[in-house]
Amino acid sequence: MKIVGIETSCDETAAAVVENGRLLLSNVVASSMEMHKQYGGVVPEIAARSHIELINPVIEQALAEAFPNYDPGKSWEQIDAIAVTYGPGLGGSLLIGVMTARTLAIVKNKPLYAVNHVEAHVYANFLTEIGEKIKVQSSRFKQISNYKLSKTVPEFPILALVVSGGHTQLVLFEDHFNYKVLGRTGDDAVGEAYDKVAKILGLPYPGGPSVEKFAQKGDSLKYKLPKAKMPEKYDFSYSGLKTAVLRAAQTAIGEDYSFPSYQLADRLKNAQKADLAASFNRVAMEVLVDKTILAYNEFAPKSLVIAGGVAASPELREQISQRLPIEIDYTDTKLCTDNAAMIATNAYYQIQTNKPAANPKTLEINPSLQM
Ligand code: KG4
Ligand code: ZN
Repeated sequence: MKIVGIETSCDETAAAVVENGRLLLSNVVASSMEMHKQYGGVVPEIAARSHIELINPVIEQALAEAFPNYDPGKSWEQIDAIAVTYGPGLGGSLLIGVMTARTLAIVKNKPLYAVNHVEAHVYANFLTEIGEKIKVQSSRFKQISNYKLSKTVPEFPILALVVSGGHTQLVLFEDHFNYKVLGRTGDDAVGEAYDKVAKILGLPYPGGPSVEKFAQKGDSLKYKLPKAKMPEKYDFSYSGLKTAVLRAAQTAIGEDYSFPSYQLADRLKNAQKADLAASFNRVAMEVLVDKTILAYNEFAPKSLVIAGGVAASPELREQISQRLPIEIDYTDTKLCTDNAAMIATNAYYQIQTNKPAANPKTLEINPSLQM
């Protein structure tokens, strides 16, 4: 069974073809990131306009890579279903993907599956095989090659740490679509905290990779940053940590809390920035790992997966490997950030578990959808 996935919830326009929920036949990702960089974050109007321009060529490219003798008309006959992210995300961005998928479902006469983006991040870990053609992908979009996928499909019960720009949560999956959110953030998501700390330090957006890179040169024990104490043990909070970095930066240059954050980057020395980045990076990830270990010990899952953009972090992977006594089958970092393969995989399991297809005439977006 071959499914086309479509993803447009934020700044990536993505399409992919996945066979039987595990074989990656194509994975095309185009990003409007460069256009947002100068604003220090994603500008919704720019993202939506970019999706309009990119969506059709990206889907066409995904089909062209998936089928050896691609024919714009005939190759669609080999597709069994269409899957699309309907939330959560930016309203204007989600609309482009959903309207495109609805139209294709009607015109090509295919069943349509609506996918929760956050849930789908976990499904990136279900991809275990790679098509031949994808290895030599060359396109005018982001070039992705040399995938290192999970070796095996994770077994239930699965403990999933879902960490992205918009979400930070620990979820226990008893089975497909049967899960319990053990805890989540009540304020900033961890990826968002990276993006904000990057802004304070004058590092480029997205903050995750740029803070991590700077952190390599710093002393991670230089600044004592707090871990939030939560009434519910699996809940997270990242706004206090971000403010603590701000205060530490103000103190480091001999100013008080009234010094404007946007002027800090010019006054901080590179060594101070590196130490702040390293200290933040260590504590931000320690909090995730502390709670993951707590849940791992309480629920004794058969597998542990990490998902979402922040799961690409080498610091997170290293801390987990050092502190947890099990070997973890990490998936490729290129499948941790937003992509459409995870959307197609999620839909495959919707079909396997007899979930109803969406109505292509009425499917609506849900920007604040939760797990
Ligand atoms: O999952 P994702 O691509 O988009 C959302 O659904 O939010 O996650 C993007 C987030 C950004 O906040 C980015 O700073 C963070 O993931 N990120 C990282 C790394 N790469 C991306 N955070 C820490 N370390 C990284 N290497
Ligand atoms: Zn995401």
